[in-house]
Amino acid sequence: MCNSNLDMFGLAGKKALVTGGSVGIGKACATALAMAGADVAIADIDEPTGEKTAEGLRQMGVSSIFVKCDVTSKDQVQAMVAKAVEEFGRLDIGVNNAGIAILGGDEALDQSAWDKVIAVNLTGVWLCAQAEARQMIEQGDGGKIINTASMSARIANCNASYDASKAGIVHMTKTLAAEWGRFNINVNCFSPSYLLTPMHASTPLEARECIRNLTPMGHMERPEDLYGTIIFLASAASNYVTGHDLLVDGGHTLNAWLVPLGREVPPRVSPEEEVVQLKKDLDAMGVEYDENGINEDLHPEIANAFKGMLGLE
Ligand SMILES: NC(=O)c1ccc[n+]([C@@H]2O[C@H](COP(=O)([O-])OP(=O)(O)OC[C@H]3O[C@@H](n4cnc5c(N)ncnc54)[C@H](O)[C@@H]3O)[C@@H](O)[C@H]2O)c1
Repeated sequence: MCNSNLDMFGLAGKKALVTGGSVGIGKACATALAMAGADVAIADIDEPTGEKTAEGLRQMGVSSIFVKCDVTSKDQVQAMVAKAVEEFGRLDIGVNNAGIAILGGDEALDQSAWDKVIAVNLTGVWLCAQAEARQMIEQGDGGKIINTASMSARIANCNASYDASKAGIVHMTKTLAAEWGRFNINVNCFSPSYLLTPMHASTPLEARECIRNLTPMGHMERPEDLYGTIIFLASAASNYVTGHDLLVDGGHTLNAWLVPLGREVPPRVSPEEEVVQLKKDLDAMGVEYDENGINEDLHPEIANAFKGMLGLE
């Protein structure tokens, strides 16, 4: 018999918070949670953009607030959880997504870059997970903690600080899952590939084409390509999944072939559709989108790195 009851994916009445939720992947996570009915607190260091994101969620019919929080500060993280609980009465879902990359070859990189990336990406996720778990343990009826890792946890993709921080998230997720299963708290992470978010706004058209050509699904990942993953990991549908790293990369990390992948049919997503959310995010941030994908003002170091790699000047 076919069971068409999909209530297990519903999040009505659930209370969530998302760090780094103002734009990009965090905003996509918040949007997916709201689509499934959850109330969502947006936590970020970018207050003006985060306020706009929270307003967008309210327009979807759920409750939403913005909480200013730097995830590297234990005090601010504890205050963030307290604020979400004060507003919503409890916390069921924590998405620990805030992250940064500081590009540059490791032979030349200053230690301050390493320290900053580890502080935000690894220590920040641990601080948030700990504060969320304490709240969930006090409530006594479990919860869902979801950390944003990256395919860079599996492949050498960025540089040592970024890749090590993401590999650290994957293993930290497993350990926390093992520790907190006894409280009915699921701890999982997900690993995207290349998304054109504000973080990667400086990705020239040539680099995008290169990424598409190396990706079996044939297009760059969009924030919306993560909606299903987030709803699954936040809902009862994943109640027996814990300590897992869900790779969402369009097959990118599978490809070690020496021949071009080629395609029989066009990809599901066109190059124009890849940047719809990015344009909205940049607009909310007051940054003009550069059609060539350089966006020098936002991340000059990434723009320069790509220009050097591709011989563009
Ligand atoms: N974009 C990609 O291709 C990609 C791929 C895999 C994984 N990721 C990971 O996904 C996460 C989100 O990436 P994104 O592409 O949306 O990045 P983004 O730079 O577009 O957005 C990140 C958000 O985090 C906020 N933030 C930065 N530092 C913070 C801090 N200390 N405290 C609180 N908020 C902070 C920023 O203000 C911003 O709103 C990161 O962990 C990133 O490493 C990104």
